[in-house]
Amino acid sequence: MLRPATAAVSPPASLQVLHWWTSASERKAANLLVAYAAADNVTWMDSAIPGGAGLAAVKVLRSLVLANDAPEVTQIIGASIGEWAELGMLLELDAPAQAGNWNAVLFPAIYKLVQHRQHVVAVPIGIHRINTLFYNRALFARLKLKPPKSWSEFEQIALKFNAEGIAALALSSEPWQVATLFENLLLASGGQQLHRELFVRMNAQALSDPRLTEALERLRLMKSWTKQPIAERNWTEVVQELANGEAAMLVMGDWAKGELNVTGLPTDGVFSCSAMPGTEKFNLYSVDTLTMFTKDYAHSPAQEKLARLLLTPAVQTGYNNVKGSVSVRRDADPARMDSCARASWTAFGLGASAQVPSLVHRMSVDEVARDAVIAEINHFFADDSVTPAQARQRLGAVFRALHLRRSDH
Ligand code: BGC
Repeated sequence: MLRPATAAVSPPASLQVLHWWTSASERKAANLLVAYAAADNVTWMDSAIPGGAGLAAVKVLRSLVLANDAPEVTQIIGASIGEWAELGMLLELDAPAQAGNWNAVLFPAIYKLVQHRQHVVAVPIGIHRINTLFYNRALFARLKLKPPKSWSEFEQIALKFNAEGIAALALSSEPWQVATLFENLLLASGGQQLHRELFVRMNAQALSDPRLTEALERLRLMKSWTKQPIAERNWTEVVQELANGEAAMLVMGDWAKGELNVTGLPTDGVFSCSAMPGTEKFNLYSVDTLTMFTKDYAHSPAQEKLARLLLTPAVQTGYNNVKGSVSVRRDADPARMDSCARASWTAFGLGASAQVPSLVHRMSVDEVARDAVIAEINHFFADDSVTPAQARQRLGAVFRALHLRRSDH
């Protein structure tokens, strides 16, 4: 939307910011942004909604908008950016993008992600790698093991830990955590192509691919690798299990690294990371972005200022080091990254052949489709009597319904 000529005379420089960063490391990373903004005379009024992966924040945002009380800045990510932009609610950030030369400094996929109808409508701040396997080094050393590179090694290692009475895998039954693990398994079994058919295109024909059945069977098997009985716990508790040596491995996205670092555990100390076995060449990614609501345009100078600030090299390096993600800039310095971050940033930099947009973390399909797929995976995981064939059938019904809905538009 174009800004009207009657912009406010003395624009307010305080911005309400809604996001879902509430764990210790998320908080620390957000506080860093608050401090940078303050140094630039922008007051960041924090409105953080608890709930891993944005479960509640996304809903709170909708009700605020319906009540005509949208925050000036919001964490809206992936496919939802286009939906909100289409409603004409997002401020166009072409001016700060041009001033900061975003088309040249951002990875092309990131620059594409933040645009809608040729306008920049979101500020990218970090790339998370979802196919990261974290492992407890002390436990691995005790059993003289190396991180697994293939499914069979993964399975053998899990059996060894379980035989020692140590949970091989830290995991809770929270639906997004389970679905995150499954998305990793699907990528490992089916590669980028099957992931695209199922989790981007939602192609019902691809549901008969035996590699999907394999991934479902592996998901079920991995349930036995976890602390029994599996319960629904916040992701930060699950991360602690790995830190305390109660569990040997973890697959959930590299915000887990931020959380380990903030509790005083540097990367390659108690823990290290490697790629989820079978997915080394990919970066299954999610990009955190902030968008700005237009409202009456009174806040746009401060919003534009913040947008520009967030992309500066200093903010990018500082924020991503704490958050566990990596810079969205192609000119970031890998020497200033730890081993996990460097692997992630390098894989992302390989381009389209390595980049896989995460469904669970909102990059590939819209919120309704995402929620429906997560619910089906969870249904399969929670109830051992559901067979892979039944899960495939139910996913087929979901895909078909979603396609009907798409063609309605
Ligand atoms: C977000 C991360 C966040 C994680 C856990 C993901 O969807 O992209 O920034 O740390 O959820 O809440």
